[in-house]
Amino acid sequence: MNLWFLALWVTLVKAWVVNEGTTCILYPESLVHKGQAVDDSPSIQQAFETCGTNGTVIFSDNVFHVNTVLNTTNLLNCDVHLRGELRFSTNIPYWRTHSISVVLQDQVTAWLFGGTNVNFYGEGGFYNGQGQAWYNANRNESNQPGRPMSITFYNSTNLLVDRLRVIQPQFWATFVWDSKNVSLTNLFVNATSNSKWGTMNTDGYDSWKSDTLLIENATIINGDDCIAAKGNTTNLLARNIYCEGGTGITIGSIGQYPDMPDYVLNATFENVKIKNAMDGAYIKTWQGTRIYTPSNGDWGGGGTGLVKNVTFRNFEMDNVGLPIQLSQCVYSADSNKGCNTSTLQIEDVKWQNIHGTSRFNIASSIYCSDERPCPNITFDNVNITSVNASLGLPYYGTDVQHELFQCTNVVGQNGSGIPCNQAAPSNFSQWIYGNVDDSGLATLS
Ligand SMILES: *[C@@H]1O[C@H](CO)[C@@H](O)[C@H](O)[C@H]1NC(C)=O
Ligand SMILES: *[C@@H]1O[C@H](CO)[C@@H](O)[C@H](O)[C@H]1NC(C)=O
Ligand SMILES: *[C@@H]1O[C@H](CO)[C@@H](O)[C@H](O)[C@H]1NC(C)=O
Ligand SMILES: *[C@@H]1O[C@H](CO)[C@@H](O)[C@H](O)[C@H]1NC(C)=O
Ligand SMILES: *[C@@H]1O[C@H](CO)[C@@H](O)[C@H](O)[C@H]1NC(C)=O
Ligand SMILES: *[C@@H]1O[C@H](CO)[C@@H](O)[C@H](O)[C@H]1NC(C)=O
Ligand SMILES: *[C@@H]1O[C@H](CO)[C@@H](O)[C@H](O)[C@H]1NC(C)=O
Ligand SMILES: *[C@@H]1O[C@H](CO)[C@@H](O)[C@H](O)[C@H]1NC(C)=O
Ligand SMILES: *[C@@H]1O[C@H](CO)[C@@H](O)[C@H](O)[C@H]1NC(C)=O
Ligand SMILES: *[C@@H]1O[C@H](CO)[C@@H](O)[C@H](O)[C@H]1NC(C)=O
Ligand SMILES: *[C@@H]1O[C@H](CO)[C@@H](O)[C@H](O)[C@H]1NC(C)=O
Ligand SMILES: *[C@@H]1O[C@H](CO)[C@@H](O)[C@H](O)[C@H]1NC(C)=O
Repeated sequence: MNLWFLALWVTLVKAWVVNEGTTCILYPESLVHKGQAVDDSPSIQQAFETCGTNGTVIFSDNVFHVNTVLNTTNLLNCDVHLRGELRFSTNIPYWRTHSISVVLQDQVTAWLFGGTNVNFYGEGGFYNGQGQAWYNANRNESNQPGRPMSITFYNSTNLLVDRLRVIQPQFWATFVWDSKNVSLTNLFVNATSNSKWGTMNTDGYDSWKSDTLLIENATIINGDDCIAAKGNTTNLLARNIYCEGGTGITIGSIGQYPDMPDYVLNATFENVKIKNAMDGAYIKTWQGTRIYTPSNGDWGGGGTGLVKNVTFRNFEMDNVGLPIQLSQCVYSADSNKGCNTSTLQIEDVKWQNIHGTSRFNIASSIYCSDERPCPNITFDNVNITSVNASLGLPYYGTDVQHELFQCTNVVGQNGSGIPCNQAAPSNFSQWIYGNVDDSGLATLS
């Protein structure tokens, strides 16, 4: 070994975390392990311990192998710059037994991240969840226990996450939990499978028990909810959003747990394009009784609460199954059990300037329960045409040759602006696979 090489080698050996004052620069172990996928998690943890308070953590432009869970919480006045790739390992047995609990639905996360006055900048770097292994293992099932969310923003105040890119997330890509004033700007998520198995449960953005949230300029290509505001999300603004392939923008599902009422107040979703998706702009709650729901892996229902002051504004739908929906029994609809029992009140919800095409002959289905009819539900300038009708073709396989707007238990229906022309039946889940007939029944599989 010549002297020059030795000097270089020593520099690199010391280089997992190069600490210059309050800045920690990270380099991957693979640089000195002949390219092997040696775990970089310990040095990542060390960088955040050293520079997580009043400091800066920089991931250099290299591939980092993340083989063990990351817990980088309680940061304070910290800037993070992601310039390289974070490649999460595909050791499914490991992640299923070691990922960190996020409490909600017994779910877990591969990276718990958070703090106060923190900025996370994606500067050309990205999070590679290597989700293909998870999609294949999941075989189109739902909520596989221990399948981790990519990154959870937890217990954070004044957190900005700008230009985060998540490629093939393992499960939900981002989750905001127990936080206040969190902004995700220019988020990019691409959950696309290259096998016969789909990308079930690859939500783009979910929030729970959090206040004052912004999500602006997001592109989310996935196989489940694009954005989902869950219980106790308040003062959420989502704008300039592109959603492709999943199940649209939703409040819910909520009402799963009787001991934890869900309040979703003051939420605005605006300037949204939804393309080739099952759903568009909707609200989904569990039924009012407890039912074992294998498709969701758990018991659920019986939860109460309130959804109030919600606006869906300036949406462009392009080939969307159910463009507008309100369901109070999204998981029991197929079995038609307890659909009419929800005591979760929904009121003061507006759909405004909603245009584009539905995949079938239905534009909207608003189903409120007998227990809690919905006051102040309004449509303003909603114009949706089925894909067929927009091409001048007749509807196929149905006797209904016009667009349907279903309503059940809408208080003040006549002044709502909804051109209700059919009762919303109690068997609508969020999935629809064909036109609706004269009796209001849809092809559900
Ligand atoms: C971090 O900076 C704040 C002021 O910005 C200061 O009060 C605090 O002592 C610093 N903490 C550490 C560990 O240096
Ligand atoms: C995460 O790290 C924090 C310290 O920042 C610690 O208090 C907490 O217990 C850890 N959580 C888990 C689940 O390991
Ligand atoms: C949450 O963050 C605060 C600082 O804002 C800290 O004092 C508290 O210990 C954190 N809680 C947990 C469970 O980490
Ligand atoms: C919210 O966080 C941002 C940084 O992301 C900060 O500029 C702003 O002042 C915070 N707002 C409040 C009310 O603290
Ligand atoms: C998403 O990923 C798929 C599969 O890798 C790729 O074909 C597609 O171009 C990506 N989309 C974008 C917008 O990057
Ligand atoms: C899995 O689900 C996806 C999306 O829903 C679908 O396209 C695919 O055909 C399904 N795969 C199998 C093998 O059933
Ligand atoms: C979002 O995109 C718009 C239009 O490109 C741009 O003007 C705005 O600054 C972006 N917002 C953020 C927070 O980057
Ligand atoms: C939501 O907040 C209320 C109090 O405002 C609380 O009673 C309820 O348990 C919270 N629900 C959740 C899901 O945290
Ligand atoms: C909803 O917004 C109004 C007006 O900004 C505010 O007064 C109210 O406190 C907000 N509600 C919640 C639960 O934050
Ligand atoms: C409803 O929420 C919006 C933010 O989404 C807020 O600007 C408005 O003041 C709220 N209205 C009421 C009556 O709380
Ligand atoms: C109905 O909604 C409008 C606008 O969202 C709001 O100003 C009004 O206070 C609501 N009325 C009731 C009775 O909730
Ligand atoms: C609704 O949209 C269709 C096609 O986009 C258009 O032909 C029609 O004029 C619109 N109707 C109204 C009332 O705006």
